[in-house]
Amino acid sequence: MSANQFDLIAALQRELPGAQVIAPGERAAAYEKDESGLGRFPPQAVVIARDVADVQAVMRFSRAHRIPVVPRGGGSGKSGGALAIAGGIVLSLEKLNRILEVSREDMVAVVEPGVVLETLQAAVEAAQLFYPPDPNSQAWCTLGGNLAHNAGGPRALKYGVTRDYVLGLDAVLPDGELVHCGHRSWKGVAGYDLTQLLVGSEGTLAVIVRATLKLLPLPRRVETLLAFFPSEEQAARAVQAIFGAGLLPRACELLDAAVMEAVSPRAPFKFPTGVGGALLVEHDGHGDGVADELVRSGELCTEAGALEVLAAQDETQRKRLWETRRMISTALSAVRPHKISEDVAVPRGKLVEMIRAVREIGARHGLPTACYGHAGDGNLHVNLLFASLAERETSHRAIDEVMEAALRLGGTITGEHGVGLAKKRYLSREQSPALIALQRRVKAAFDPEELLNPGKIFPDA
Ligand code: LAC
Ligand code: ZN
Repeated sequence: MSANQFDLIAALQRELPGAQVIAPGERAAAYEKDESGLGRFPPQAVVIARDVADVQAVMRFSRAHRIPVVPRGGGSGKSGGALAIAGGIVLSLEKLNRILEVSREDMVAVVEPGVVLETLQAAVEAAQLFYPPDPNSQAWCTLGGNLAHNAGGPRALKYGVTRDYVLGLDAVLPDGELVHCGHRSWKGVAGYDLTQLLVGSEGTLAVIVRATLKLLPLPRRVETLLAFFPSEEQAARAVQAIFGAGLLPRACELLDAAVMEAVSPRAPFKFPTGVGGALLVEHDGHGDGVADELVRSGELCTEAGALEVLAAQDETQRKRLWETRRMISTALSAVRPHKISEDVAVPRGKLVEMIRAVREIGARHGLPTACYGHAGDGNLHVNLLFASLAERETSHRAIDEVMEAALRLGGTITGEHGVGLAKKRYLSREQSPALIALQRRVKAAFDPEELLNPGKIFPDA
């Protein structure tokens, strides 16, 4: 440990008496990485904040000593947003984990950033209320990360993303000042909408320390089916048919042939032979019409060529259908040791073309691909599977082409995981220099010294 590091730890301990300050080493290891697969970035110190005052103290310390701060929640991010790429302090919000209020009267929840999403969902549902955002990491991701990255998930199709449920925020600015923006009422239009600016700002503008979230009535009926198709194109066509018929499922998830092959040996039930794609469709609502909608979606799948349509008869079966979807990431890792996993989104009408483009790119580079995801909103998880480091180079070239294809089809480089570190080199392909410059000025207005989560989102100069 260098004298410099010793000084930093001691100085932080003086600044935050009694707070947990972790020096580099074994105990800090968990804070060096996230789910992006981009590697380890050891910070010079980790501070586990106990309260808002600790967050303010760390930010003031950062300004005074010109030391970068990287806010961190559960570490489930897939774009490297929580990585300390410039060293400095990782500021963990994990202990700010109280659900302060679930109000049936106002239909809001007030939470701290360290609350695990699933914990909030359970508390809210116990009050017959509903918080729809459902990223796949819900068992361990935290609300702070969800807010910072404007997380989505399968239910975003019908209910929108995290942003659509944020009414108000308390946030600590890079100079340590605590601000409150937004409102508790469901409506409010006073001033610039800084609440929505902070949502999705990937921890680069302020540290969110409290959020007021909008809640809906808990849907009384949820009906789910899994349809198996001979090909992923037929599954994608069924997506069009379902929307074409005027239906709006709450989730519509597509699995391609490679995914079905990977998942099949682990699936909780046997897949039909000749399967080359699948669609998981879920409808919800409050009356008997929900079951009718599911039947209609099932018929449309059959008309589009489905080999078999399984409709869950009870909650246990519903969970088993979803297991097939939730195990994909693990199953793909077993196929080949490495994967690059992307989250491009294209307009729904371009889904078939996007899947075809991925196949073609993979074939040309000699790399297996696997696509799955939120087909209903055009958000496709494109995976390139590779076995060696030499192939990693090739897969980066292939990913470049996947991004180009998504943009050519009118889509975006990231539908839900954020830019962070992983995609900053692609941002200028999607956005004009003027737009990026404007965002840099917004960043400078909050954080003129670039100390809060530096080096993220924007391309290196
Ligand atoms: C999912 C994550 C990867 O949808 O976004 O599984
Ligand atoms: Zn996803």
